[in-house]
Amino acid sequence: MTSQKTIINALFQKAKQASRNAYAPYSKLQVGAIVITEKGNAYSGCNMENASFGLTTCAERNAIAAAVNAEGKKMKIKFIAVTNAKGLAISPCGVCRQVIAEFSNKETTEVIFRSAEGVVSKKIHELLPDAFSM
Ligand code: THU
Repeated sequence: MTSQKTIINALFQKAKQASRNAYAPYSKLQVGAIVITEKGNAYSGCNMENASFGLTTCAERNAIAAAVNAEGKKMKIKFIAVTNAKGLAISPCGVCRQVIAEFSNKETTEVIFRSAEGVVSKKIHELLPDAFSM
């Protein structure tokens, strides 16, 4: 059986590959994310900045958008991993946490990133308690 460490390494490798396409001329932080859906498909995304800074979209949201485009509105995330070309510790921003929550299964979705203490794999409700929903 494939170990959790092997799966996480493979996810980070794919996310790092995606970060190479990032459009990040302002922050210079090239971020990549990969979503593995409950159906078992993989979709990646990179961050895309804009001269009007607030229009920037993060790698995670772009990966989720790709997954929804391909699988439709019932798409659910099994894993989402985020990393960057510099290997810095980063975690999903608040906006991305809210978007991840919308396409997550509370019990099973895992959000994976590198913290200062090492690799972290958390449930979305740990990252965003009391998420807004309708
Ligand atoms: N960014 C992401 O793409 N994902 C994250 O988890 C954190 C931040 C992007 C947004 C912006 O283009 C750059 O990183 C610096 O904030």
